[in-house]
Amino acid sequence: MITADGINKKSSKARVYAITSGKGGVGKTSIALNLSIALSKAGLKVLLIDADMGYERATYFKKELLKLENAFDYIFIDTGAGISANVIDFVFMADEVLVIMNTEPTAFADAYAMVKVASTEKPSMSVGIIINMSKNEKDSERIFFKFNEIVNRFLGKEILYHGSIPVDKVVSEAVMRQIPLAIYAGKSSPMQSIRKIAKNLLGIENTKTTTIFNR
Ligand SMILES: Nc1ncnc2c1ncn2[C@@H]1O[C@H](COP(=O)(O)OP(=O)(O)OP(=O)(O)O)[C@@H](O)[C@H]1O
Ligand SMILES: [Mg+2]
Repeated sequence: MITADGINKKSSKARVYAITSGKGGVGKTSIALNLSIALSKAGLKVLLIDADMGYERATYFKKELLKLENAFDYIFIDTGAGISANVIDFVFMADEVLVIMNTEPTAFADAYAMVKVASTEKPSMSVGIIINMSKNEKDSERIFFKFNEIVNRFLGKEILYHGSIPVDKVVSEAVMRQIPLAIYAGKSSPMQSIRKIAKNLLGIENTKTTTIFNR
């Protein structure tokens, strides 16, 4: 669990994101961690929660969430992959489910299952997409539009595109060295993309757009 104190005064309730994916190993943890660092460097109060916890801790955490919401600007819940009961529980606590997708052909079906469960059970929930390990920006946008079209047609839901992150071995190097990418290679291309995504998230809440990124 990482707590990063920002410099800004808290103005409203935290926006809670559940970071999920259809299948494992698509970059949830790397994105959750570095997105949290990017936002906290911009002066926001960010709480990152690893939802890979036992039943008792999860129950305790759910009770505490209300208090936590008043102390932070952003809360990211790094859930496991798939749609197990535990993951779904955390997803329903969020304002937005952030689905991380890669560009493999199977990614569609996996991500669709998650969006379907989330939007059927909690229609008020926003759904956002981040494409990770992308070959190029155009390709990612094309994948998103195709995915959006399907979700739109079959679930009647609009989804948000937050951006894409290129595939780059610097990400795995940082993971291997157990150093956050934001620190290991703060100027790398994937980190620049993550900062861009952080800016997009800030833009969603216009009360927080005045914050200036230091890089
Ligand atoms: N943009 C990227 N470019 C290259 N490698 C990446 C990228 N993003 C993630 N990876 C690599 O993919 C692997 C999985 O990443 P990560 O652990 O963040 O995924 P995860 O979705 O949290 O996995 P799990 O489902 O097991 O929790 C890591 O070794 C990481 O280095
Ligand atoms: Mg993970």
